[in-house]
Amino acid sequence: MSEDRKYITFALGKGRLAKKTLELLEEIGITCEEMKDKNTRKLIFVNEELKLKFFLAKGPDVPTYVEYGAADIGVVGSDTILEEGRRVYEVLDLGFGKCRMCVCGPASARELLQHHEMIRVASKYPNIAKDYFYNKKHQTVDIIKLNGSVELGPIVGLADVIVDIVETGSTLRENGLEVLEEICPLSARMIVNQVSMKMEAGRIKELITKIRGKMMECETH
Ligand code: PRP
Repeated sequence: MSEDRKYITFALGKGRLAKKTLELLEEIGITCEEMKDKNTRKLIFVNEELKLKFFLAKGPDVPTYVEYGAADIGVVGSDTILEEGRRVYEVLDLGFGKCRMCVCGPASARELLQHHEMIRVASKYPNIAKDYFYNKKHQTVDIIKLNGSVELGPIVGLADVIVDIVETGSTLRENGLEVLEEICPLSARMIVNQVSMKMEAGRIKELITKIRGKMMECETH
């Protein structure tokens, strides 16, 4: 292995997706022992032998790191990819982190979605909400950006409906809300910097092939 071989850097969205991604990488022989230390405050982890670096970032920042080449590869939900609209290659659906982007609200709001009424829509995903209402439904709406606990919107009277992720549906149920319309299915995706895809084509394609192989193996068992 040549000494000057370049590192390949992974940006992983903090939380469940990063955990799942590390499990998947481990199955194809890529580990990062440093990262397993729960108490560490380190931000970047290195596997010297394989010439790999890993860092954890806030989900919405992952496509940014990848677009600018600060990371060669990123793993992030397709919700974030759609929302951020960065110039990156989306190379693989990793099949985990499955959920749905939906318009949700109280049952009484269903009516408001039928007649092109001017309604208020709260969301952590203003671009996805805008694209859905303006381009698909041709309904002019007022979009209010929130940063979390979006289900509060209709409950406290800030918005008529929300555009948000639904996984198990329990947050909605426990707050008296329901799915009114489904926008699209979501899952974790692997994204690649456009220059890295050319400069490191061999190593990146090998990695994609290995992950794909492992995923197919898991499906058939
Ligand atoms: C997400 C999403 C919903 C919830 C859906 O929120 O925004 O609130 O999970 O999951 P469920 O259908 O299984 O209940 P997250 O936990 O990421 O926190 P946030 O509300 O602060 O964004």
